[in-house]
Amino acid sequence: MAAKTLAESPGLTSIPATHTFTPDLHGQVTSVPEGSIPVIDYSLLISGTPGQRSEIVHKLGRACQDWGFFMVINHGVPQKLLSSILDGCRGFFDLEEEEKQEFKGSHVLDPIRSGTSFNVSVEKAFYWRDFLKVFVHPVFYSPTKPAGLSEISLEYSQRVREIARGLLTGISESLGLEGSYIDKALNLERGKQIFIANLYPTCPQPELAMGMPPHSDHGLLTLLIQNGIGGLQIQHKGKWVNVGTLSNSFLVNTGDHLEILSNGRYKSALHRAMVNNKGTRISIAMAHGPSLDSVVSPAPELLVSNEGNEPAAYIGMKYKDYLELQQSNKLDGKSCLDRIRISAV
Ligand code: SIN
Ligand code: FE2
Repeated sequence: MAAKTLAESPGLTSIPATHTFTPDLHGQVTSVPEGSIPVIDYSLLISGTPGQRSEIVHKLGRACQDWGFFMVINHGVPQKLLSSILDGCRGFFDLEEEEKQEFKGSHVLDPIRSGTSFNVSVEKAFYWRDFLKVFVHPVFYSPTKPAGLSEISLEYSQRVREIARGLLTGISESLGLEGSYIDKALNLERGKQIFIANLYPTCPQPELAMGMPPHSDHGLLTLLIQNGIGGLQIQHKGKWVNVGTLSNSFLVNTGDHLEILSNGRYKSALHRAMVNNKGTRISIAMAHGPSLDSVVSPAPELLVSNEGNEPAAYIGMKYKDYLELQQSNKLDGKSCLDRIRISAV
């Protein structure tokens, strides 16, 4: 049953055992001082003076190194498009259960999948979350319902992909590589882009439920928007930190493939989604990865320096295989990345 259908059951005041996690799971959450999460002004990266640009590249590098997370402002995507795509996803989740079944999918590499929880066969309890997951690049897919979603999704996907590539140019430079390094090495012209819409219904016992467990994303960069209701937490220096809801910004986190490519200089960010009893939260995560056939290893340029050679910390693996591995296993911290880590280093 969809989490939404369950949440809408008349008179629901407690959550069923099927959706209950142990209370200590949430751990301690710290608040960070206002303004300490890095904010990147995208307009300076694209059209700033050389001085402003190099400052923002430096800031991007620091954000990737210290947080694996940052907010992007002045990105140029109209507020109206952001609202339309959030409304379109709400429209999808509001379809009848039978209608959504049409887009259920079965294999992790099916281009359109929707449902509840994650991988029901390997998880202990259901998450308080329904999702729609769609491959939007290099081939664009979309559910055919609700009317209009496909057009909005196409435009949104293109705009966000452009920003992700712009950010990755800055990130390449921050590593001391050519701006186009990541784009070329990982064939981003054919990069895998995945649209993931999440719906977290209002929950009567949020302290016993989980929206999404701690995990890192498999790709390079994920750009997330939400409907004004927070719930994302990221791990920073071993503590969970609430991420606010700066309006009209993208929340960006680094993925496993940026960690691999940078040979661990930039770690992928652990994050999770909490639920609340105040209102339904919708988030849209857009994940950007290498092309499916790219074999990704640490950039050889980063393994040599004046101080001597640095050993590669990860085994090279085809992105398609990595994606399949992560998607068909329990989402569990960085367990997938750990499988290709060379433990001697
Ligand atoms: C995600 O990790 O993909 C989504 C997290 C969120 O809903 O904030
Ligand atoms: Fe994620």
